[in-house]
Amino acid sequence: MIPRDTIDTIIQTARIEEVVGDYVTLRRRGVNQLGLCPFHNEKTPSFTVSPAKGIYKCFGCGKAGNSVNFIMEHEHYSYPEALKYLARKYNIEIEEEEQTPEQLQELNEKESLYNLNLFAQQYFSKRLLESEEGKAIGLSYFKERGMREDMVTRFQLGFSPGKWNAFSEHAIQQGYKKEFLVKTGLSIEKENRLYDRFHGRVMFPIHGPSGRVIGFGGRILGGDKTQAKYVNSPESEIYNKSKTLYGIYFAKNAIISKNSCLLVEGYTDVISMHQAGIENVVASSGTSLTHEQVRMIQRYTSNISILYDGDPAGIKASFRGIDMIVEQGMNVKIVLFPDGEDPDSYARKHHPSEVESFIAANSVNFILFKTRLLLAETQNDPIKKAALIKEIVNTIALIPDGISRSLYVKECSGLMNIPEQALMTELNKILRARFKKSSPEQAGEMEAIPTEQPVSEPQINLDPDSAEFQEKEIIRMLLLYGQEVIQIKLNPSDEEEVPVGVADYVVHDITHDEMTFENTLFKSIFDEYVRGVENDSIPDRTAFLSHQNQEISFLAVNLVFTPYELSENWLKNNIMVTTEETRLQMHVMLALHAFKARKLDKMMTETRKKLSDAATPEEQSVLMKTFQELKKQSIQINKDGLGRIITR
Ligand code: CTP
Ligand code: MN
Repeated sequence: MIPRDTIDTIIQTARIEEVVGDYVTLRRRGVNQLGLCPFHNEKTPSFTVSPAKGIYKCFGCGKAGNSVNFIMEHEHYSYPEALKYLARKYNIEIEEEEQTPEQLQELNEKESLYNLNLFAQQYFSKRLLESEEGKAIGLSYFKERGMREDMVTRFQLGFSPGKWNAFSEHAIQQGYKKEFLVKTGLSIEKENRLYDRFHGRVMFPIHGPSGRVIGFGGRILGGDKTQAKYVNSPESEIYNKSKTLYGIYFAKNAIISKNSCLLVEGYTDVISMHQAGIENVVASSGTSLTHEQVRMIQRYTSNISILYDGDPAGIKASFRGIDMIVEQGMNVKIVLFPDGEDPDSYARKHHPSEVESFIAANSVNFILFKTRLLLAETQNDPIKKAALIKEIVNTIALIPDGISRSLYVKECSGLMNIPEQALMTELNKILRARFKKSSPEQAGEMEAIPTEQPVSEPQINLDPDSAEFQEKEIIRMLLLYGQEVIQIKLNPSDEEEVPVGVADYVVHDITHDEMTFENTLFKSIFDEYVRGVENDSIPDRTAFLSHQNQEISFLAVNLVFTPYELSENWLKNNIMVTTEETRLQMHVMLALHAFKARKLDKMMTETRKKLSDAATPEEQSVLMKTFQELKKQSIQINKDGLGRIITR
């Protein structure tokens, strides 16, 4: 039993954002923090943490609670187990009230498995570093491979003695139960005797995201071809291979700070990369990535680079698997290592800075990589080329984000020398087919988007400090995306996001605040949208592109078809960042905030001037009130920080 006051201390000490933060990447959103829900599969974050209230709630799946509940839910722990986990995290000592032998025995099974793994890891490390056998065979093997001692320590590498039952015997002597030795797979039972699964191997402990040892990989020394090179722990209650990424515990922080995750094949690749100072690395341990593993990475970043050793044929075989990663909303890049080299061998032969620059120079976006590789094979064979187009468009159609899709269409059309429109037609066919099949909810997300350029830097040169600059952005937004739907909170205090048409939202937001356009052309376009919203028929952009008023049509065409030089810069500077930043919802909010911040500034200046000219106290007091109201709004907008980004 854990004493009541210890429970209170634990609950008071455990900060929800830190507890959750060990598993979920959280980003600030006002007073709350927001991330991808670990309890259900989602692409846009709805998992909300309130540090002030000490609770979390997912608006997607409804899961909610405090830190203890979170750990119980996430780790499938009982209440006391969750408390113990938190006590360990915060170094709070638990002096358990006297336990009966039965209670001791009942000490949860999982906890026993973790305990045994910890014991085993310490045993193997000690053998490696302190025993004659370990030093002569194990440590010298690592040294021969060029592995530094700080890496041996960081990854808690070890050595399992050659004697067939050395570890099992020692563990039993120390009071560990046969049942758990077998369940963790450290021992194999045969004819009532325990054998060491890993005897005579160097040991790679596998750590879960919170740093506990959940399993092991053991490598034979040397190259005996008759034995498996690696032996791994079997699945257990605490080790599920398809949900595990080797190195995740050591990579978490670097993945977050670099906003990218490198994926390699094996244990030694991870360690060699760390040794070269590259720490945002995890290994799938020789298999192709599973959904769960991708989701695990996705909690920290949506950018993944797959480091391949091997020939294009091998990579081609993995295209389907990579499509799955694209479908989960990840930006995937491929890094191809020279023939015969894997990240481990490359890192050993080159200076750390060379490894870093090699990766940077050889990262190719997956879709472009795939296009180029397949294109090289078509060699002007029109039938093959038609198949290629289908293949590529199929992959592009998997991307959940509409803006990213249209960027890829543009880029691939250039690469394949095929009109953008042809690809777009093909793409829309697939999307429409899927649209029909899927539920209305998903359909919104997958809706085909227009072929035009993404929202880009202003091309019609206006002074960014002029009000018209912001007005233009609003109009551009309406023309490009007026008929799209975004998810938005109608009031800041609302908990739920609801789907709203972009034009609906923009028009209501601006008219509600009684703001107007200065530029007469922009104003007349905006007014048409206002009428459209009122009559429930949002104008189609083509109405403006071929408007009878030549000035309007000229303006619309320029806004919508601004030449946007994507290709070179786009390839060089990580497209991911671009697409991330061009997310529609964000853009609508930014444009509106900037527009309003600018208007408010102006209205305040005007009011201030009127105030100084005001003749009567009554007039003054009215103006004063107006001013304060404007000021309040302006503070609110600047607090959101969004106004600044565009107005300054
Ligand atoms: N693997 C495994 N069992 C095997 C072979 C491989 O579990 N029999 C997994 C291991 O996780 C290994 C990864 O697949 O790390 C990649 O395999 P491989 O490239 O053959 O091993 P390396 O890690 O490169 O090992 P080394 O450099 O020591 O040969
Ligand atoms: Mn290797």
